[in-house]
Amino acid sequence: QIERKVEALLAKMTLKEKIGQMTQVRHFDDIDDEDVARKHIGSIIHTQGPTPGHNAAEWQARFRELQEIALSTRMGIPLLFGVDAIHGQNTYEGATIFPHNIGLGATGNARLVEKAAAITAKEAQATGFNWVFSPCVAIPYNEKWGRVYEAFSESTALTTKLTRASVTGHQGILSDKGTVMATVKHFIGDGSTEYGVEGGETSLTPKHVEERLLPPYEEAVKSGVGSVMTSFNTLDGIPMHANKAMITDLLKQTLKFDGIVVSDWKGYSKYGQNDIINAGVDMVMAVDGDLQEFHQVLNQGISSGEVPMERIDDAVRRILRQKFRLGLFENPFPDSDLIASIGCDSHREVARQAVRESLVLLKNKANLLPLDKKIKRIVVVGEHADNSGLQSGGWTINWQGSTENYQGASTIIDGIREAAYGEVVYDVAGVDKHPDADVAIICVGEKPYAEFFGDVGHEESDCQLTLTREHKNYISHYVAQGIPTVVVLMSGRPLVVTEELEMADAFIAAWLPGSEGRGVADVLFGDYNFTGKLPHSWPESEVDYENKYGPNFWQKKPEPLFPIGFGLEYQKS
Ligand code: IFM
Repeated sequence: QIERKVEALLAKMTLKEKIGQMTQVRHFDDIDDEDVARKHIGSIIHTQGPTPGHNAAEWQARFRELQEIALSTRMGIPLLFGVDAIHGQNTYEGATIFPHNIGLGATGNARLVEKAAAITAKEAQATGFNWVFSPCVAIPYNEKWGRVYEAFSESTALTTKLTRASVTGHQGILSDKGTVMATVKHFIGDGSTEYGVEGGETSLTPKHVEERLLPPYEEAVKSGVGSVMTSFNTLDGIPMHANKAMITDLLKQTLKFDGIVVSDWKGYSKYGQNDIINAGVDMVMAVDGDLQEFHQVLNQGISSGEVPMERIDDAVRRILRQKFRLGLFENPFPDSDLIASIGCDSHREVARQAVRESLVLLKNKANLLPLDKKIKRIVVVGEHADNSGLQSGGWTINWQGSTENYQGASTIIDGIREAAYGEVVYDVAGVDKHPDADVAIICVGEKPYAEFFGDVGHEESDCQLTLTREHKNYISHYVAQGIPTVVVLMSGRPLVVTEELEMADAFIAAWLPGSEGRGVADVLFGDYNFTGKLPHSWPESEVDYENKYGPNFWQKKPEPLFPIGFGLEYQKS
């Protein structure tokens, strides 16, 4: 049925209309609304940045306006609206923000990942979108890579299981209300570049790629994923955007992927527009001001025979197929009755459960944890304790994340204050003296970053995977006072914290929990047990990172401090 509709539409389209469908432009800052009709644009991407105000009804109204322009054209083909909602609808303040994928990897709970994805889809649609660029299904090989937290795990098997859950959760039955098209990214080898360089060189044997990196994609295709995003890395010297053997021969022909291959940000300008289309890219991201030139270059390529017409038809067929599968021809507009679900209690409860299940207990000397709620005096230390921006990491409100509290979120100290019956004192700078304190809960970790190396908060721009001196001092300062000390580490990847682990009585890897900081207190005070397990092996020393691929699983040496799968629990009494 859908295929017949696709063919009927394709048969009536002019070349200009077809090329237009293959383009995606950026929302707000760069587009002239009239281009949607004049250039037959296929999709609009909204990135974190200027928005029409924090009001979902206004967002919907804006997308409706643009959709109406698209529908008023000769072919009346609806637009795809895409967004990087990678841990909840994280571009919208007030939405439910889940732990980043590394935390979901620690839960190992496919059912929970599916629920989180379904909620993300619903909140993304409530703000006007029908397409998300998520999940990232990379297998990170080196913790220096600035996107480790976007991926579930260094384990291929775990990533594959959670990929299925995520795709199924986002897409449900695609034509239903409250579902969106998912994207698995970045195809392929994004997380396995040498030294963790974003968009660097991935040099692995075909067998290695097939066994370690491909399974999540195979599973995603079997689960009906609607789109796949190409990666900026090279694979054995060939840029992935222009890698026909991988995109067309492997993904489309061997794996039988029949959805859209979308480029990464302005991938056309880096690798040659017609080359990436010939390799199998169907839609080109962020063409923006280059629209005119894009049409010209592709037109010339078609006239000269450089780009076969069948390639264009294949690309447009895939785009139309997904638009039909999404039900956009029948229901092109976002549903206003979904707005009430944004950040609602039941969604936040799932995110809070995800926080609880993501926490990994690395040390618990003399069973310091769980804390007794009746403790008289608790000191909470560090800026990470009361800052939902810091606890959420990159891709939250802004592309690079935020260091401010944002609307609707609870922080770690909020949860502690609610759970504890005694006094809770906050020492944000970690310098106070508290000889009478019964316990110190020290919250430390990374500052937000996205895509690039990132670093923990040091001034230098080179990547450092250790805590700052200031954060280390918080711990030693309280240990020196003889106060039992719990460290809650918020980071997008394992860090080298061997000394801090030694000093502290209890140590929790909390990853990047997102908007529901209260979930941490749920476990600290024993209302719930720890169930999280490390989704990565944990390095002992910085030297580990000097290896091309870091201290990861396929290398026998150096031995990790903790193996993947490690995680303590409270003793059952
Ligand atoms: O989806 C992202 C991708 O992961 C990195 N580059 C930009 C894209 C769109 O924002």
